[in-house]
Amino acid sequence: MLERIQVLICGGTGCMSSHSKEIKQAFEEELTNLGIKDEVGLVLTGCFGLCERGPVIVIYPDETFYAHVKVSDVKIICEEHLLKGRHIDRLLVKNPLDRNKIKQMSQLTFYSKQKRIALRNCGQINPLDIDEYIARDGYLALGEALTKMTPDQVIKEVLDSGLKGRGGGGFLTGLKWQFAAQSVSDKKYVICNADEGDPGAFMDRAILEGDPHSILEAMALCGYAIGSDQGYIYVRAEYPVAVERLEHAILQAKEYQLLGDSIFGTDFSFNIDIRLGAGAFVCGEETALIKSIEGFRGMPVLKPPFPAKKGLWGYPTNVNNVETLANIPVIFLKGADYFKSIGTENSTGTKVFALGGKINNTGLVEVPMGTTLREVVYDIGGGIPNKRKFKAIQTGGPSGGCITEKDLDTPIDFDNLKKLGSMMGSGGMIVMDEDNCMVDVARFYLEFTVEESCGKCTPCREGTKQMLDILNRICDGDGTLKDIDELEKLAHMIQKTSLCGLGQTAPNPVLSTIKHFRDEYIAHVVDKACPAGVCAELTHFVIDDGCIGCTKCAKNCPVNAISGWPKQIHMIDDELCIKCGACKKACPVGAITSIPSIRGEAV
Ligand SMILES: Cc1cc2nc3c(=O)[nH]c(=O)nc-3n(C[C@H](O)[C@H](O)[C@H](O)COP(=O)(O)O)c2cc1C
Ligand code: SF4
Ligand code: SF4
Ligand code: SF4
Ligand code: FES
Repeated sequence: MLERIQVLICGGTGCMSSHSKEIKQAFEEELTNLGIKDEVGLVLTGCFGLCERGPVIVIYPDETFYAHVKVSDVKIICEEHLLKGRHIDRLLVKNPLDRNKIKQMSQLTFYSKQKRIALRNCGQINPLDIDEYIARDGYLALGEALTKMTPDQVIKEVLDSGLKGRGGGGFLTGLKWQFAAQSVSDKKYVICNADEGDPGAFMDRAILEGDPHSILEAMALCGYAIGSDQGYIYVRAEYPVAVERLEHAILQAKEYQLLGDSIFGTDFSFNIDIRLGAGAFVCGEETALIKSIEGFRGMPVLKPPFPAKKGLWGYPTNVNNVETLANIPVIFLKGADYFKSIGTENSTGTKVFALGGKINNTGLVEVPMGTTLREVVYDIGGGIPNKRKFKAIQTGGPSGGCITEKDLDTPIDFDNLKKLGSMMGSGGMIVMDEDNCMVDVARFYLEFTVEESCGKCTPCREGTKQMLDILNRICDGDGTLKDIDELEKLAHMIQKTSLCGLGQTAPNPVLSTIKHFRDEYIAHVVDKACPAGVCAELTHFVIDDGCIGCTKCAKNCPVNAISGWPKQIHMIDDELCIKCGACKKACPVGAITSIPSIRGEAV
């Protein structure tokens, strides 16, 4: 029987952790009970992007978007929606502008400004079914290239598209393929870098989970272009769903003879194996990654020679990021000119960002290069929650910097973000509001890089630790003005003398917060105050006369430090207060303020 309805259930890691697998099982049982199992297609897809509203399901043909679905909602969805065609109102998402319920996925502003190329199949197909990928022109690009194009023509198409690497460096992909092709050797390798270690980033994971075949197809295309018959996907073991789907996809592709010997009846052979990483951030750096695959400790080595000349086991190797590769089949299916028509002159195509922090719609977004940061934060991201004020956006993760309100209208591309003192990085985008302390933010990123430094070279190993000591001093109220100068001096030295990108970029968050928020650093060292009320040693919470006695603060205090009768002014017991700031956030009338203090004593 022909299925009249398709229920797509998000099977991305985010929704799976909120029981989307159990939701699918509940659908199977309920549809059997109702006797309509044959009429309804059930598919566990990849991530839809709006992870904050997960578990998400989308029902076709009317494209109904249901958010925060629970196992207990399945019965009513089946009985009301699938049988009688009535929407379940409470599971629909509200339009933030007029508070009306939105029925169709395409009407959500979160999606209307996006353009999905790398994520084209995520949330659309069953990633475990190669036929669904093929039905959407999967492996067509590989077939056409192998049977109608020379390797040089393949490289030219990628070069003409202007595609730049999405793994952080932004190097022209076609040029990289050309270098590897020009290296003369009887053995060459293709590596897909799926290490993805930036805190909060999950673009690559989503692509691997939602569309694994697109990566296999792109790697085979690269193998043909550079003259390689072996590829490796280096993926962190912390991504078990991605690994499972990749393993399954490789088996299916082999079964269909789309990997292995004589692909498409040609003399081109290509195999792909998976190598698991243990989750060290530095192993995402290509030379450290290569060392790790070779079985050594993942430590970067000096470049040149670049991997295109001397890479895995000394042979020419092309390393590309997952998102870079996900764009490749589209360049062949739609042409380099189509790809180039999207984005800006020097940054073609789209970019996927993992939007997080103080933003209403956290999740994955893919926008054409040239989209402004304001559009991403307000139109797609839905703005800042709880009527708080935007303060900054951090792009590029621990290697990037923060961008402030005055630059929000900047079109996003590789060059513009660099000009603003930040960088594209791999696509992490963290939004901060007035409750974020920027010294504390710098400290957070530096703690990460200190932890992740491989220790091979002194400037990074020792210098970042010294910077962290200074930041800790400043946050504790023991800093001096000289410390800020010292931070800048150390930062420039580490940038110039570190061996790899980790050390070279580790000081960026510190430098950019000093540049844009020097007043906050000065408040910490001179006034001994943390204006955002985050640094515990420098913050003292008080309740003023504006208190209406709603009791919300007391209910939210984790240590019962707040007392007071309903409708009367409340009080904070300083001895008990652990300076968590939960009361300030909970107060509906802004009656709680943080005031300067020295080591917890109000001044
Ligand atoms: C510390 C560090 C971590 C990195 N982590 C990643 C990563 O997780 N994924 C990635 O694709 N590239 C990462 N890179 C960049 C890679 O070295 C390399 O440039 C990239 O994989 C090349 O692919 P692309 O040209 O497609 O961007 C990292 C670089 C550094 C310095
Ligand atoms: S810069 Fe840091 S991570 Fe890179 S090699 Fe040196 S110590 Fe290791
Ligand atoms: S800052 Fe935290 S611990 Fe202190 S009174 Fe408020 S909620 Fe309680
Ligand atoms: S939340 Fe604000 S208004 Fe309510 S009791 Fe606490 S201080 Fe007073
Ligand atoms: S994981 Fe389900 S929407 Fe992203």
